[in-house]
Amino acid sequence: MKILGIETSCDETAVAIMDNGTLKKSLVSSQIEIHAKYGGVIPEIAARKHLEVIRKLFYQLLEETKIKVNEIDLIAVTQGPGLVGALLVGVSFAKGLSIALNKPIIPLNHVYAHVHGALLGLSADIVESQVFPCFSLVVSGGHTNLFYMKDPVSFEHLVESSDDACGECFDKVAKLLGLAYPGGPVVEKLAKKGNKDRFSMPEILSDKKQLSFSYSGLKTHMYYLIQKFDQLSKNDIYDLCASFQDAAFEQIIRKIKCVSELKKYDTKSILVAGGVAANQRFRQLLHDNFNLPIHFPELAYCSDNAAMVAAYAHQLYLNDKKRIDLENIQHDFEVYSRFH
Ligand code: KG4
Ligand code: ZN
Repeated sequence: MKILGIETSCDETAVAIMDNGTLKKSLVSSQIEIHAKYGGVIPEIAARKHLEVIRKLFYQLLEETKIKVNEIDLIAVTQGPGLVGALLVGVSFAKGLSIALNKPIIPLNHVYAHVHGALLGLSADIVESQVFPCFSLVVSGGHTNLFYMKDPVSFEHLVESSDDACGECFDKVAKLLGLAYPGGPVVEKLAKKGNKDRFSMPEILSDKKQLSFSYSGLKTHMYYLIQKFDQLSKNDIYDLCASFQDAAFEQIIRKIKCVSELKKYDTKSILVAGGVAANQRFRQLLHDNFNLPIHFPELAYCSDNAAMVAAYAHQLYLNDKKRIDLENIQHDFEVYSRFH
């Protein structure tokens, strides 16, 4: 079973092929350099760049894997959430291929696919016996979500964003500090030199029963804190990054604990995915706070990629083959910008 994954929900054009559960190749063409000069992703530029790149990237994938186009059995594509114009490029490309090859197509949720990024490095045996049921966290530029998963394809929503996402907050705070886009990696690097205790940070959503994530208050707090300085020294920036970073992660850890206090969940592990999962301080804090195996994606599969899309489709195929009707190919689906 050869599954082609296609991902174009934001600023990475990505394709990958998985063959019977083994990743053959994953290619990502990132637009970060293009958007960096604007300090954030410009949706129309993102969509136009996907259109320019996707066909070439797909043929490069076929060439590097020595797989012929008509050997593809199933096409998996990100349907949402994401930037509508960007999603339309990947979905239209997938529909075109599906019609040309007469192969089924499966539209997938980008946030759920991220979770599968954390499973990519694990053997099928471990995934089957040692991971589920589990908590899964997706912490990215667009989403902060905590799920409970009894198996690789069922997502019970436990905690979700009520405003800005965690990665988005890193990007905005970095911008306030005059740092480059994307902010997460830069803030992490500078925070290593800083004193995390110099500035006191607010405890966001301190009510234990409030099961959501919020980052707009922390962003506003950082805005007013930065305004107090006439000029920021290097050390001020290091200390602001360190204090902010820990406050951003403290909220996530606290909410996982709140969820566990309110109801007893049977969990064998925690999966952590999304761009922010690349952060080493975040990984350390999670290990320090939870006495469970925690699985993170390899760095290449933290940010957007198509390997996670193909991997999620593979699990759907294994778990519920009926959802992928090989005889009755459906093209009647749309893209969506928000989670639903
Ligand atoms: O998953 P992703 O590539 O795209 C979305 O689906 O949103 O995540 C990108 C986000 C950006 O906000 C970026 O600043 C953040 O992940 N990020 C990080 C780190 N690396 C990327 N945040 C904190 N620390 C990092 N090392
Ligand atoms: Zn993503």
